[in-house]
Amino acid sequence: MADDDAETELEARLAEQDAFEPPESFVEQANVSDPAIYDDFEDDWPACWETAADLLSWDTDYDTVLDDSNPPFYEWFTGGELNVSANCIDRHLEERGDEAAIEWVGEPVEEANRTYTYEELHREVNEFAAALRELGVGEDDIVTLYMPMVPELPIAMLACARLGAPHSVVFAGFSADALATRMDAADSEYLVTADGYYRRGDPLDHLGKANEGLAGVEGDVSDVVVVDRLGENDDGFGHGLAEDQHDYDDLIADHEGASVDPVARDAEDMLFLMYTSGTTGKPKGVKHTTAGYLAWAAWTSESVLDIKPEDTYFCSADIGWITGHSYIVYGPLALGTTTMMYEGTPDHPERDRLWEIVEEYEADQLYTAPTAIRAFMKWGEQYPERHDLSSLRLLGTVGEPINPRAWKWYYTNIGNEECPIVDTWWQTETGGMMVTTLPGVKTMKPGSAGPPLPGVDAQVVDGNGEEVSPGQAGYLTVQKPWPGMLRTLYDNDERFIDEYWAEYSDTDSEDPADWVYFPEDGAKLDDDGYITVLGRVDDVINVSGHRLGTMEIESAIVGTEGVAEAAVVGGNHEVKGEAVYAYVIVEDGYEGDDGMRERIITAVEDAIGPIARPESVVFTPELPKTRSGKIMRRLLEDIANGEEIGDTTTLRNPEIVADIEDAVGK
Ligand code: WT7
Repeated sequence: MADDDAETELEARLAEQDAFEPPESFVEQANVSDPAIYDDFEDDWPACWETAADLLSWDTDYDTVLDDSNPPFYEWFTGGELNVSANCIDRHLEERGDEAAIEWVGEPVEEANRTYTYEELHREVNEFAAALRELGVGEDDIVTLYMPMVPELPIAMLACARLGAPHSVVFAGFSADALATRMDAADSEYLVTADGYYRRGDPLDHLGKANEGLAGVEGDVSDVVVVDRLGENDDGFGHGLAEDQHDYDDLIADHEGASVDPVARDAEDMLFLMYTSGTTGKPKGVKHTTAGYLAWAAWTSESVLDIKPEDTYFCSADIGWITGHSYIVYGPLALGTTTMMYEGTPDHPERDRLWEIVEEYEADQLYTAPTAIRAFMKWGEQYPERHDLSSLRLLGTVGEPINPRAWKWYYTNIGNEECPIVDTWWQTETGGMMVTTLPGVKTMKPGSAGPPLPGVDAQVVDGNGEEVSPGQAGYLTVQKPWPGMLRTLYDNDERFIDEYWAEYSDTDSEDPADWVYFPEDGAKLDDDGYITVLGRVDDVINVSGHRLGTMEIESAIVGTEGVAEAAVVGGNHEVKGEAVYAYVIVEDGYEGDDGMRERIITAVEDAIGPIARPESVVFTPELPKTRSGKIMRRLLEDIANGEEIGDTTTLRNPEIVADIEDAVGK
């Protein structure tokens, strides 16, 4: 058979195939390969989670695995004490001190990349922790980190953890306003930031944005540390440092050789806050704690990502999101492996950048997002073909559903049919992976995340909370607590209960069996118990794997001069998964023209950041509303997707639908 024919035949076979067995070569070496783990964990729940706790080094042993006496405020490994930075660094020094902890790849290609061995990481984390302590940072002070993908970001996280000071990382792509809101919400008086970073070869002004954000902070800000990423006086932005602003390198030099004893923290002490979008305009401060979170990140890194200390593991996410927290920093470092960080974008200087990095560093795993895979697919397989990707042993995806076509492209063109793919469902709130295949055990089904992990009681239920039968769609729920779960929303226990528990729980009950966690995703169950996640059922849009609240975007738009009303929905997008569609009514005396459109887009970028930029702004004389005045978002979604419009009989103003369709068509 000619090569071409063989290839066509292979493609046809792959396209039809809806189940793939893990490659034998992978199973033989997998960290977890015994299927008995599912039954064992179920029989031994919650004690099964000692398996995760055993991956950590404790200063004081815990007394109880799970304290469920006050649901939904569950506590894990109570009585135990440990320090996260000691777990991620110090305990590896003896065996792995000279091995790379972090391999950092900078963006301009001529940039000197940096390697931090465990020894070097230990030194700099100690020095920075000493500096922070001198600035006044103590246990339980929340430090905001508004930083791009530079090594100083994980160093700052670990320095905070060493001191017992929780961090709140704000994604560098977020706007000045978003920074100010988050600092105030967390009562955070300390900020670590950077002068700038590079995007596709050009320096970006980050300190200007940080300064603008700081000007908007209502609470006291005591100190600001600025990492010099662009090179002194070399950035052309010329902000200089204000009186309360310290140069990172100066602080490190002042504390050369300093050593800070890791502060023993209670298992349930806060490790960090991470703000995420919800249904209301106000972001939610998701609180994660010390032991349960780290145990979860470490156990899932080991069992799902199959990380071993000698691996070089590459996750292409940004540390500004939960994926980077759990699976660039905490999970991999807890296991003592080499974790990679890439500052730039996958298409600079060319569209083979990731494959060049995989080849050069001989990466063992690659964990990325479906949106990236769809972009790679669009660019074509000639880019991965230029490189030797045979070092890869496992592939992963996260952030949104992956369509089977993209899954198969990834499997063939990146994994060469030799790597299992883990499609991992989880959320900022879950701390780590919840639903996915164990790669050394389970059959893979493209498009379906898989069964719940061992010990995770995820179920798909109907509107009444009853489990659906196979083949049916319903709502994803988690029926039992797990160590990595959020503990509450910062300063807002009530909203915590409302958002995640109220839907399916008896909130008056003290019996944990009456409490059910609702992640606000729709899902489908198949005959083998595999869960296919269908997407959000709340007013949250998932753009390129990132959560954006429609209310947040709407309030930014309504703040624009001349805008009377706005509705925002998610519409399908070939690469981003979903994109932001805005429908806007202008006030009398204003024109819905290009100038107005630009002002609206700028307002959204200023309030949130470029990721929330509307794909399309449609001016309309009215919005479709029910008789009770509720905007019919479902209809607007249909219009955005160019779908046939469903039932409009409940509308107060059905005639408006044709007008909007006309406006979209324009
Ligand atoms: C939401 C969580 C998990 C870190 C990145 C996003 C969606 C996530 C999958 C997946 C289908 C997924 C869900 C979830 N999601 N992973 N494998 N398949 N959907 O974290 O910003 O907290 O968003 O992302 O809708 O609820 P996040």
